[in-house]
Amino acid sequence: MIGQTLRLKVAALTDIAPSLRHVRLVAADGGKLPPAAAGAHIQLVLAGPGRSFRNAYSLVSRPGARDAWDIIVRRVPASRGGSAYIREALQAGDTLEASWPGNLFAPVRTARRHLMIAGGIGITPFLSYLADFAMSGGEHALHVCCREEEKDVFAPWLAGRSGVAFHWDADGHRLDIPALLAAQPAGTHLYVCGPAGFIDHVVTTAKALGWAQDHIHLEYFGAPAHDTSGDQGFEVRIASTGKVYPIAPDVSVVEALRKEGIDILTSCEQGVCGTCLTRVLEGEVDHRDMYLTDEEKAANEQFMPCCSRARSKLLVLDL
Ligand code: FES
Repeated sequence: MIGQTLRLKVAALTDIAPSLRHVRLVAADGGKLPPAAAGAHIQLVLAGPGRSFRNAYSLVSRPGARDAWDIIVRRVPASRGGSAYIREALQAGDTLEASWPGNLFAPVRTARRHLMIAGGIGITPFLSYLADFAMSGGEHALHVCCREEEKDVFAPWLAGRSGVAFHWDADGHRLDIPALLAAQPAGTHLYVCGPAGFIDHVVTTAKALGWAQDHIHLEYFGAPAHDTSGDQGFEVRIASTGKVYPIAPDVSVVEALRKEGIDILTSCEQGVCGTCLTRVLEGEVDHRDMYLTDEEKAANEQFMPCCSRARSKLLVLDL
């Protein structure tokens, strides 16, 4: 099923905050959707004028829901275009192509306790976690760090859910992350979702307190914005065929090759999941992902063609 596509219809669009839009999706043929577990995401193909985008969104609906899926889309100023398209052009009744649900952030079933920490809109994957734990009885706590006014936006999504606390930047309301992490019983798994800086802070704190790497799980809510104003075009040569393809300054390698009929398997298309990892045989990579380690990036032997680019005029790819 992975790799197959779905046709979805937009059943409803609702603005839940100035920058947040709730989208309800159903199967375009009126049938059942495939099952999706807590933490699952789908990738939507969003056709803008002259260009299409593939963006991944967490499903915030109840795990296993097959009648409709819900996603929450945030308009980011540095949007690659997909979220801007949803905010400005998508209409109820439109149909969209989507991937089958993927899951890179599922709760660990053997965990004794689940500690979730969200930065702002990073709450989205945890909405399905909470529904899962309500059914399974998993011991859990969710701490959401956001602006004070944002907590009301998510309140309707959390009605009836236990173990949720909001924190914001004011005396008496800030989350004491070191104290929270230090107080967890052995066997707790930590899940963090939000902007990169937020995740880095939580993970660094956890590691400094001795948390085991395999008890820490993270999902970035969008790769950090890169300044793309100076991006140049370059060329990519496919080693197996010798064919050379131009990569325009505002188009990713994945996107450019897809138009030429060369499909690289992707999932997040934001440089966080590792699905598109591709070996580089020649040329210098401009790494923009959060998947490879600093050492792997320095080795210049592989890259993420969904987001990374080239410093050299040509990259030769082992495809
Ligand atoms: Fe996820 Fe490229 S598709 S890193």
